[in-house]
Amino acid sequence: MITNRQSGTRIDEIADKIFRISTPVPSMPGGFSFNQYLIVDDSPLLFHMGLRRMFPLVREAVAAVIPPGTLRFVGLSHYEADECGSMNDWLAVAPSAEPLCGQVAKLVSVDDVADRPARALADGETMPLGTHTVTWLDTPHLPHAWECGYLFENTTRTLLCGDLFTQGGADCPPVTQADILGPSEKFRKAMDYFSHTTNARAMLDRIAKMGPRTLACMHGSAWRGDGAALLQALAEALEE
Ligand SMILES: [Fe+2]
Ligand SMILES: [Fe+2]
Repeated sequence: MITNRQSGTRIDEIADKIFRISTPVPSMPGGFSFNQYLIVDDSPLLFHMGLRRMFPLVREAVAAVIPPGTLRFVGLSHYEADECGSMNDWLAVAPSAEPLCGQVAKLVSVDDVADRPARALADGETMPLGTHTVTWLDTPHLPHAWECGYLFENTTRTLLCGDLFTQGGADCPPVTQADILGPSEKFRKAMDYFSHTTNARAMLDRIAKMGPRTLACMHGSAWRGDGAALLQALAEALEE
């Protein structure tokens, strides 16, 4: 469903009660997209929040599904503007919302810049939202930032995988079963946005063991299929 005609921002359900909000940016070279994911439950969660300048568009898209003021958590994988530039705007419109992140992000950045303290999840910690439950996974420097981590939603086996599998293009479909590793490798090679951590394989193996069925990418399409196999294929590609 398109929620803003001028920008082309849209919201689509990609797993049970998990919605992808996507804003295309055709003016960037090759086109690009910024996605946020909304988990609708007793404690609604938005992961990530989006750029500060995109806040009105993302709020409008959230409002198509739930009142934005009812958000309980606004999460981030790592501290960058596309993850959390709009954090204080969200905290202002949603009075019971808390920033949600890993322990390093809370310590290093979030508790300084956010208008309310963050709820930090420890590595492997699980938190119920209602029918959904999310587990935090620390992934330092994968693909970048010391504080980086992901949320895994256990009932739908959806990995909210941030910048992993970033695909260029402004008009990617909401969900695809087509190859996203090829396009994301093309993007990685051109942009060199991965750190050179030597722990990537161990971290990818650990996430693969959780058996994700949907990968909720921050840039490009979400993907459905054998997530473990795709994560292993990424680990291979990083070692080439
Ligand atoms: Fe990033
Ligand atoms: Fe990103």
